[in-house]
Amino acid sequence: MGAMDKPVRLGVNLDHVATVREARGTPYPDLREAIRIVEEAGADGITLHLREDRRHICDADMAAARELIRTTLNMEMAAVEEIIAIAEKLKPDFCCIVPEKREELTTEGGLDLQRGGEALASACARLTAAGIKVSLFIEPDKDTLARARDLGAPLVELHTGVYADADGAACERELERLHAAAEHAHALGLVVNAGHGLRRDNVRAIADLPHMCELNIGHSIVADALFMGLGDAVREMRKAMGL
Ligand code: PXP
Repeated sequence: MGAMDKPVRLGVNLDHVATVREARGTPYPDLREAIRIVEEAGADGITLHLREDRRHICDADMAAARELIRTTLNMEMAAVEEIIAIAEKLKPDFCCIVPEKREELTTEGGLDLQRGGEALASACARLTAAGIKVSLFIEPDKDTLARARDLGAPLVELHTGVYADADGAACERELERLHAAAEHAHALGLVVNAGHGLRRDNVRAIADLPHMCELNIGHSIVADALFMGLGDAVREMRKAMGL
């Protein structure tokens, strides 16, 4: 956090609470209870990814979350007609647009803003008209940032997956790339978020990047929750972020 910046926000992604539920098709664990616990523990927002294949979060989860959430709801989504129409009705506070592939285990990288430009510009315009703040999930490079700005998104989420998977010098190099991207995004007037692959042991350097507004973290928090409970997993993540 820079001297002039506000404390970085923690957005907790709860997709994998629904993954455990869907593994058996049971009504538990209850996503609504998870939302209550993480908000109580200090989360600044909740993120849910309504995938086209509905492998974890389903339409009813989104509706229940919209009702219940007292912080902010960030809907992760692909820029496809069916899901855009749901977002327009649901009116989450934020939509983070991501690339989606059926066979992937998780989102594999940032959007291709060159190839997907027209569809993304149209999605940005429609969601913005519905009163939703749009974020584009992108790789941390300058050209991509300039394109994101030109597509009309006020926010970007920098992909930290490469940083999270790298060791040693490669990790340092990626951190420098993220640092430069955060500075550049801010200079372009974009709000800067980041996420993917963040854990208690690697989050601090990202939380400390200049102009960082929000980190979106899911898998490691849900994994930590197995051993320490969901509330403590959020509290420990906040501590690891220096909050
Ligand atoms: N940000 C985006 C755009 C994502 O797609 C994901 C994964 O759903 C996350 C953040 C959270 O990543 P993780 O689950 O690795 O913390």
